Amino acid sequence: MKPEHIAIIMDGNGRWAKARGLPRIAGHRAGVEALRQTVRAAGDLGIEWLTVYAFSSENWSRPQSEISDLLGLLKTFIRRDLADLHKAGVRVRMIGARDGLAKDIRHLIEEAESLTANNKALNLLIAFNYGSRDEIVRATRAIANAVACGELRPEDVTQELIGKYLDTSFAPDPDLIIRTSGELRLSNFLLWQAAYAELVFMPCYWPDFGRNELLQAIDSYAARERRFGGVTVARDVAL
Ligand code: FPP
Repeated sequence: MKPEHIAIIMDGNGRWAKARGLPRIAGHRAGVEALRQTVRAAGDLGIEWLTVYAFSSENWSRPQSEISDLLGLLKTFIRRDLADLHKAGVRVRMIGARDGLAKDIRHLIEEAESLTANNKALNLLIAFNYGSRDEIVRATRAIANAVACGELRPEDVTQELIGKYLDTSFAPDPDLIIRTSGELRLSNFLLWQAAYAELVFMPCYWPDFGRNELLQAIDSYAARERRFGGVTVARDVAL
């Protein structure tokens, strides 16, 4: 079965650049190109949801110059690629804490979201200033406020309700989470939503990721048996 929702931790830009004697920004630029290829390939393959981890709430601890480079790349990506994404029927949305972002970036994000709001081919979620624990804290505060002012009762708090308060409220949980660069961690990415996701770790650095690597990850997903905590029902055994 093909995954409906693929989420990607795009890791290894820095090491890709270092291996070539290039500055880290060159790795991030190559990473944007890999992202373009991956969005195209996902659309071609009929994937409905693609979420990419572009900037974590912990990435603010990087040197100021690299933070500016990454913010600049997001702005350039939206300015340069928005028309093409729209033409290809991609609906773009951002997840993460918006109030920590500068006004010009917030405006660009809103522009991308409203221009593409009716597109149906592929849902692209860009996680920017995103951290799963921060997302869970924001959701919990909103729920606590709703309880405090009598809009919700404590017993209304269920798994479904919590899901509705998360940044991903409108999306299905990811079926497949891919991380490049050989690191074996989730790094605060979609922790709640990843409950039953299949994880695929790939050795290549993110700038070397493309259609073939996406197909490889999908093949690996297709070979897994998903039980969601249950047991396999043996259909071919005569009762
Ligand atoms: C991890 O590599 C990658 C990031 C922190 C940023 C991911 C960003 C892009 C792919 C480009 C930006 C895309 C948009 C839309 C803004 P790393 O720097 O941690 O690599 P390293 O672990 O090898 O140092």
